[in-house]
Amino acid sequence: MELPTQTCASAPFDHAKADVILRSADGVEFRVFMLFLSLASPFFETLFGLPQASDGTSDQEMKDGIAVIAVSEDSKTLDLFLRFCYPSTLAEDPCLDNLTEVLSVLAAARKYSLDLIERKVCQALANPKVLETEPLRSFAIARNARLKHETITAARHNLRQPLIPVLFAEINLITASDFLALLTYHKKCAIAVKALMKDFTWMTNHYGNIDSCIWLFNRPRYNQYCCGQGTDTRFWPWNTAPLAWWTTYMQEVYELLQDSPSGDTVRTAADRTIQKVRSASCGACSGRVKEGMTEFSNLLALKVEEAVAPIELEMDF
Ligand SMILES: *[C@@H]1O[C@H](CO)[C@@H](O)[C@H](O)[C@H]1NC(C)=O
Repeated sequence: MELPTQTCASAPFDHAKADVILRSADGVEFRVFMLFLSLASPFFETLFGLPQASDGTSDQEMKDGIAVIAVSEDSKTLDLFLRFCYPSTLAEDPCLDNLTEVLSVLAAARKYSLDLIERKVCQALANPKVLETEPLRSFAIARNARLKHETITAARHNLRQPLIPVLFAEINLITASDFLALLTYHKKCAIAVKALMKDFTWMTNHYGNIDSCIWLFNRPRYNQYCCGQGTDTRFWPWNTAPLAWWTTYMQEVYELLQDSPSGDTVRTAADRTIQKVRSASCGACSGRVKEGMTEFSNLLALKVEEAVAPIELEMDF
């Protein structure tokens, strides 16, 4: 087998006074200080505390008078977790917003008992950007690492996704039971949310009376027969026909919430409705749709979140 070419890591892992070299699987040499690693990890503390043979009989590889230790992590992973080990004045904590890297750093943190880093990696799994874009991968990684809070948070964020996901790389990190628990949770949330679309007390209570919702109706008194009226009586909160675009919105949200029971579903659909109504050139509606629908969709999103809040992810940690 051909040896990988050996290169030197970048600062601060290139220090001339370093007292040990860690060589990554891809052949990058990190010149580091034992003290920082020992303080961060009992594994390294023990490793560096072992007596070294000084009579030249040791087969310890040496370079520039210091020991070279080969590790199985690649240079990217090694760089990330060494930055966590070093004091922040020398190396800032890296930004972990790539789940592939989170996974490998977490594995290294566990292997070397870097408890502090494990906690920081948990924080990376709670990164809103990661949760919003890849809740399912976050779920699998958090579950695999038996991180209770992060697993539950990721499952909740995953409600914005369809019930049946497309295949994802980390699916093999979790068991079929874990996956079933996630699907069951998702389904129960959808059922809880369905009730909101059958009884509009939450809406009539919020607005008080029909006059506080004039954006929702034609106003014959002012000759404002703008857009058509909705005929789907499931969505007539005051037993009066609202504007057709609103019942269309409600029909759409009703369907979507059964697959993705999240406040995000409600708000995203509202944004689409606002665009649609504005481009339909109805003077009365285009002027007030944004204000009306923003308040309404925030209200419904809040109700959705309240409805799913008591549902538990049934999983042992
Ligand atoms: C995440 O990290 C992996 C491994 O370093 C890399 O291959 C991948 O391209 C990265 N993904 C993104 C979106 O940056």
